[in-house]
Amino acid sequence: MEERLTLEDENLLMSSIRTGRPLAPQRREAFVVNTKALLGYAKSYSETCHLLADACLSEIARYDDSIGPEWKQGVMEEIQWWWTWINTLRRQNKLQSWAHLRAQPFPFEADCAKLADKELRCLNIGCGPRPNLGEATAYDVEVVHMDPLASAYNRLMGFLDAPGGGDVVFGAVEIMDQLETGKFHFIAAKNCLDHAYDVPSGLRQMIDVLEDRGVIALEHYENEAEAENYLGFHKWNIEMKDGKIHVWSRDHSELFDHEAYGFQLSCETTIHTKVGGQPHPMLHIRLMRGLG
Ligand SMILES: C[S@@+](CC[C@H](N)C(=O)[O-])C[C@H]1O[C@@H](n2cnc3c(N)ncnc32)[C@H](O)[C@@H]1O
Repeated sequence: MEERLTLEDENLLMSSIRTGRPLAPQRREAFVVNTKALLGYAKSYSETCHLLADACLSEIARYDDSIGPEWKQGVMEEIQWWWTWINTLRRQNKLQSWAHLRAQPFPFEADCAKLADKELRCLNIGCGPRPNLGEATAYDVEVVHMDPLASAYNRLMGFLDAPGGGDVVFGAVEIMDQLETGKFHFIAAKNCLDHAYDVPSGLRQMIDVLEDRGVIALEHYENEAEAENYLGFHKWNIEMKDGKIHVWSRDHSELFDHEAYGFQLSCETTIHTKVGGQPHPMLHIRLMRGLG
């Protein structure tokens, strides 16, 4: 395998990224599995990441031109993080497990029974390149997987030929007003709300797209920005304070009054091991409205 990419290789790689067409398997071996070769050729790698990030940023700028440079930097780092993670799992022969993530049980199954007379819709917001929300259910549920980096993720997954993705649609918590009010019965947000650029607004907008009766499930590391030293997308902390959700950053603090919106709240804390191996508290918050 080559340690460096030739100009011809680089053009092939860039064209594959632009079009989203996967490379032939032998070429992929050289470009992708051999991370050292690809990452060692920093120009090509970083150009590719910039290209993917720019496409996402121009998409979101069509709806919101108030986004600051820190979140933009986070976009690049998030793309690089997933790319590296895909390569790591492929080397460990674990990547194929992504093909089965959606075959897991649907997490709102017990709530479906209470709304069984309806056609149900679920939003998985901030889903990443390979949505990991289980969709196996006895009910008729349409699940929409959404992320602001959808265009980068779908192309990256196609290019790297990674399973379990490719169908993520564009959207962010801060621009939910583009969606129909009360459209969803269930909203799942896992490890993403604290990556947003305006979390209080995002939380309120999630409520606007929830039906009168429905559930929002938030699964987030406690005070992630503090733990990650405010690097990359990690600008917001989430914790429970006085029985309410407290979202805060270096220059903002807001206690979310769920009762004013008619929600009952429950929260369970578990200890999770992060990708880097360190244990950290994970908050499993359920906001439930109108389901008895
Ligand atoms: C750590 S990943 C989690 C992905 C997935 N939910 C999971 O659990 O594997 C965080 C995700 O949040 C997304 N994100 C960043 N800003 C967001 C925003 N404003 N609204 C919704 N999602 C956002 C990122 O693009 C990224 O895919």
